[in-house]
Amino acid sequence: MADGAAAGFDTDVLVVGLGPAGATAALALATYGVGVIGITRHDWVSNSPRAHITNQRAMEVFRDLGVARDIDRYGSPWDHMGDTLFTTSFAGPEIARIRTWGTGDARHGDYVRASPEAMRDVPQPFLEAVVLEAAAARGAQVLLRTEYLGHEEDELGVTVLLRERRTGREYRVRARYLIGADGAGSRVLTAAGLGVEGRMGRASTAYVQFEADLSRYVAHRPSILYWVLDPSAGHGEIGMGLLRAVRQWDRWIAGWGYDPERGEPDFSRDAVVRQIRTLVGDPALEPTVVGTSTWQVNEAWAPVYGTARVLCAGDAVHRHPPSNGLGSNTCVQDAFNLAWKLAYAVRGDAGPALVGSYTDERAPVGAQIVARANRSRVEFGPVRAALRTAEGSTESMLALLRDPGERGVAARADLAAAIRGKDGEFNAHGVELNQRYRSRAVIEDPHQATDPIAVDEELFAIATTRPGAKLPHAWLVGTDGRRRSTLDLVGHGRFTVITGLSGTVWREAVDRIALPYLDCVVVGLRGAEDLYFEWAGIREIAEDGALLVRPDGYISWRSSLGVADVAAAAEVLATALDAVLDRGAVPR
Ligand code: FDA
Repeated sequence: MADGAAAGFDTDVLVVGLGPAGATAALALATYGVGVIGITRHDWVSNSPRAHITNQRAMEVFRDLGVARDIDRYGSPWDHMGDTLFTTSFAGPEIARIRTWGTGDARHGDYVRASPEAMRDVPQPFLEAVVLEAAAARGAQVLLRTEYLGHEEDELGVTVLLRERRTGREYRVRARYLIGADGAGSRVLTAAGLGVEGRMGRASTAYVQFEADLSRYVAHRPSILYWVLDPSAGHGEIGMGLLRAVRQWDRWIAGWGYDPERGEPDFSRDAVVRQIRTLVGDPALEPTVVGTSTWQVNEAWAPVYGTARVLCAGDAVHRHPPSNGLGSNTCVQDAFNLAWKLAYAVRGDAGPALVGSYTDERAPVGAQIVARANRSRVEFGPVRAALRTAEGSTESMLALLRDPGERGVAARADLAAAIRGKDGEFNAHGVELNQRYRSRAVIEDPHQATDPIAVDEELFAIATTRPGAKLPHAWLVGTDGRRRSTLDLVGHGRFTVITGLSGTVWREAVDRIALPYLDCVVVGLRGAEDLYFEWAGIREIAEDGALLVRPDGYISWRSSLGVADVAAAAEVLATALDAVLDRGAVPR
């Protein structure tokens, strides 16, 4: 850890906001031994369920940070994420089912092959609490009920004005870096002179959290998401009500779109209970209403994520609806991308360009997921259109769906095509795992193939070792004879060179360079044996070639072929590290 106090700093990094982005950043920084203070204006973590879907990449991040198995304890099992249903109500006739989140027979193998981690459905407050508790246990200072008011940035650091909400006391904290993880209304982003493009508040949704034992409606068709086509919930581009399991099967969210120009939704107990009964299809249901809220559909992204010393992450820089479940997942990955860069900069192992690569790598991802999530809302339109009738009633829609005549045939064909179109939301494995980086922290391989990609990159994950991609997962066998993922060979804040049994020069080169943050793993040696030959099948480089993998599991450089000797290997590796870490800008 840098000696912050001696240099007049109170901490190395101050993190504003302890949602998924801020908590993950605090955990990673504390894990890397960097001084970190995390603040939230609230008493504790999020008090509403919000995010649930935690994808494989976010779970891989948590695996690296050592909290994945703690998160498992709070998540629904993967197979219970199940089919997504389109129905007239829980009790009423169904319209369609989609195999979703990689649980379907056709896609499950793709998901299992791509990652050592499963998809999880975890209510956000539990996920945040696990991450935050681990951060505190590893030395992050956590300040609750503390509000960020503003900051001043200079060449060496940031002076941040905070207010203790309990007492009203205002005070300043001096940090080398400031992370703005303060959500969709980010004040840090604005104060840094940055902003978002796009549109905020383009649609509105009412959410009611309630308790009722609904197991008799769902236990035989477990799923976390049920879309209800009912005229009471017909407003907006989705035009369907939502029942979302929070806890199986007695805690739920009921959601529906509303028109803010006609006022806020009627959240009186009578109105809310009536709406829940309609969506469930049980006029005698006695739900306990836990809370009500509204949220807005945004379509906004920041083109620039930070300045030299102030870096923003999470909803502060990408704001979009929950479709595809990309929000919290992207926040976690922003934080993971940023934390090691700040750690290397704080320790004096990297120059400013490494920190600058954060925007280059993450801003395109932010823009992509904002567009993807908004498009997923629009893609509900064809589902409704397929079943549209002049009367607009549930009865007429069902009559059309069952019509043996030409109209029915056409409606069913349209519905089938519309449902297939929803794969872009519910089976978008490529959106989740194919995030590729281009920046100066990634050096392109001049020998890499430029073959056109033959599959839909949004739907299918593509394993590659091209620089800028994350290290592909393959099962190896460890010393205890158990399976060990290639992902477990790397990370934990360190760079790793991966080579094969015939690439011993790389190992000697790593020894010769002798950097405290650089390891070498030889696949084939005891502890990392490729007994299934899975790695040989996907590594894309010769056995005596090498990959240089960053602390976040991304490949920053590769040598497709072997090199002549140790001196040559040491030279190309050192040159690559100099470029990736901007080491030329670090005083030695
Ligand atoms: P977040 O908003 O969570 O946290 C902001 C933090 O900043 C809080 O700790 C707050 O106290 C703090 N803060 C703000 N201003 C401050 C100030 N001035 N001073 C001090 N502290 C301040 N995502 C997903 O991946 N899967 C999913 O299934 C869903 N589902 C979903 C459903 C619904 C209904 C919603 C609304 C959203 C989702 N999401 C989601 C999105 C997800 O909830 C969202 O992306 C993350 O909560 C954003 O995390 P952040 O850490 O960026 O900010």
